[in-house]
Amino acid sequence: LSSIFNLEKYTMEDGPVNLREFEEVAKRNLPKMYYDYFSGGAEDQFTLRENVEAFRRIMLRPRILVDVSKIDMSTTLLGYNMSSPILVAPTGSQQLAHPQGELATARAAAACNTIMVLSFSSSYSLEDVASTCNAVRFYQLYVFKRRDVSAALVQRAERNGYKAIVVTVDTPRLGRREADIKNKMIIPRNSNLEGLISVDVDPAGGSKLEAFASETLDPSLSWKDIKWLKSITKLPIMVKGIITAEDARKAVDAGVSGIVVSNHGARQLDYTPPTISVLDEVVKAVSGVVPVLLDGGVRRGTDVFKALALGAKAVMIGRPVVYGLAAKGEHGVRSVIKMLQNELELTMALAGCPAVGDITRNHVMINYERP
Ligand code: FNR
Repeated sequence: LSSIFNLEKYTMEDGPVNLREFEEVAKRNLPKMYYDYFSGGAEDQFTLRENVEAFRRIMLRPRILVDVSKIDMSTTLLGYNMSSPILVAPTGSQQLAHPQGELATARAAAACNTIMVLSFSSSYSLEDVASTCNAVRFYQLYVFKRRDVSAALVQRAERNGYKAIVVTVDTPRLGRREADIKNKMIIPRNSNLEGLISVDVDPAGGSKLEAFASETLDPSLSWKDIKWLKSITKLPIMVKGIITAEDARKAVDAGVSGIVVSNHGARQLDYTPPTISVLDEVVKAVSGVVPVLLDGGVRRGTDVFKALALGAKAVMIGRPVVYGLAAKGEHGVRSVIKMLQNELELTMALAGCPAVGDITRNHVMINYERP
C-alpha cells in the first residue's frame, strides 16, 4: 500500500506541525542546562502547568452560517497596526538558544508584522536589535536600585525608536527556579549593562543569575516609581505582571497606557493563578480605559481566541519563540508565529468570527468540567 500511494512515514525532520513539537526539537538541540533555563518555572512548577492547563477548561461556542470567506486578524495596539493580536514576549538571553539570538527574533517578528518586546536581559544590545531591521518594537524594563541605570536604558530605548516601555513589576526578587540552582546556571554577560553596573561577574565572563538579580533589582519598587518613570519619558508605559483587579485599578490610576496580565511564565511566584483564569477580573476592573494583554501558556490559536473572548486586546508568547529560535533560528521563530496565526485564523473561521472585533465573551464557556 505504501508504495502505491507513495506513503512515507512522517518524521520530525519534516518539521513540527504545532508549537508543542517545536519544544521537542528545541530540547534535542539545546544543552540540558539551557533547555531547563528556558522551560522551567518556580518551585513546584504548579503554575507552570496550570498556565497551559487552564486553557483546556474553556470551551468554544462557535456560530454557524456566518460568511467566513474572508478572515481579518489585524488589530492595533497603542495606535500601531499588527497583522494579528499576537506579540513576542520579552525573554532574556536568547543567544543561549541561537547565535543570532534577539537579532533573529526581531527579524522574524518584523517579517510577520508583529511587535517584539525586547527583554532588558537581551544578549544583544538594544541598539543592535534596533538596527537589524525596521519594525515597531517595545522595550521591557526592570527598575533597578540604581535609578540612573534604568533611566539611561529608557533614554537609549527612546533614542533608538522603541515605541513603548513595558515595565515588569512582578520581580522585586528573583523567583526560585530549582533547575537553575541545580545546574549552577550562568547567564552570559549582558551587553545592555556594559559599564553601567558592577555585577558579580564570574571568571567565564558571566554572572550567577541569583547574584545578579539581588545586586540589581530593587525590592523597594512601588507605585510612586511608575509616576517617576512617566516623568522621565514621553513613551507610553505598560505594566507587565498584574494578576488582580486591585492592582489593575491602581495601574489605571497611576496613568499607565496598558496592562499585561502575566505571572512571568510561572517563573516568579508559584501558586499564582493561571493568567487566563484572572483575565476576566482584570478586564472588568480596567473597564476599557487601557488595553489589557495576556501572556502565559498560549500554545494554540484557540488559546489566543479564548483570551480575546475574555477581553484581551492581544496575547504575547514567550517560550514558543525561544523554542522556534533553538530549532531553526530566524526561520523557526517565523514558523512559530505563522503557525499560531494560521491556527487563530482557522479558529476564527470555524467559530464564525470574520474579524477580531467579532470575538465576544459569548464565544466561550468557562469552567468546563468533564461530565
Ligand atoms: C521570561 N520572561 C521575562 N519577562 C520579562 O519581563 N523580562 C525578562 O527578561 C524575561 N525573561 C524570560 C526568560 C525566559 C527564558 C522565559 C521563559 C520567560 C517572561 C515572559 O516575558 C513571559 O511573561 C512568559 O514567558 C509568558 O509565558 P509563556 O508564553 O512562556 O508560557
